[in-house]
Amino acid sequence: MNSKHILIFDSGVGGLSVFKEIHRRLPNEDYVYLFDNEAYPYGELAPDTLVQRTCTLVEQMMRRQRIDIVVIACNTASTIVLPHLRQRIDIPVVGVVPAIKPASLLSKTAVGLIATPATITRQYTHDLIRDFALDKNVKLIGNSQLVDMAEKKLRNERVDLIELEHILAPLKGQVDVAVLGCTHFPLIKEEISQVLGSSVELVDSGEAIARRVESLLAISDVNNGKGTREAYSSASPKEEEALNHALHQLGFTPVQLMPIQDALDH
Ligand code: DGL
Repeated sequence: MNSKHILIFDSGVGGLSVFKEIHRRLPNEDYVYLFDNEAYPYGELAPDTLVQRTCTLVEQMMRRQRIDIVVIACNTASTIVLPHLRQRIDIPVVGVVPAIKPASLLSKTAVGLIATPATITRQYTHDLIRDFALDKNVKLIGNSQLVDMAEKKLRNERVDLIELEHILAPLKGQVDVAVLGCTHFPLIKEEISQVLGSSVELVDSGEAIARRVESLLAISDVNNGKGTREAYSSASPKEEEALNHALHQLGFTPVQLMPIQDALDH
């Protein structure tokens, strides 16, 4: 059986947390990791720009090489981009949205949602809370510094626990479950747990996404593919050497540049 080409998209390195989950299930497929670092952080972008950039970059990659499935490994983008992208391309698109439903089922007291400033204001997020957590008090934290911390940690820099404590203070002692509503946050899960305490359960959507990808690709045979892994960015990455080192540890080739082309044509 031929291997499948899985495109994973994010603004930065957060989607690598989703890659890890998918790869755990599907180790022999071919992975293309594409991140729009030119417009990072997505949590600060206007919705129109987000839609335009995500659709353009995904289509650009699809013109460049065969892609069988697209994973928008970014909550901020998924909560707004998915219907647009599904209209424009004819392969499966899987998104990631905050794990409010499982968190609410687990919680006995209150739920924390830690996400980007954009995600916590989205109608999509508020609909999730209304539909699945109406009986729970949900406390929201939207913060881009946490996203930066995850970017730095992947590049082997230390997470500032005092700053983290300050950001997460509104949840401390207030919730028994916290949703990691940004794909960057599983990368700093240990530190978040250290700050909130081990009794607070941290929930993310990574595994659910991996299950969804597996079922959509319907891979029943082990293929003989080599499992190639390529990484692309829309601009030269910060601390490129440290980033390439981390990517190498995950089996990726060094980052290649793929600048956005016709963003204004759409
Ligand atoms: N990783 C992203 C998410 O899941 C976006 C982070 C950002 O660029 O603000 O929301």
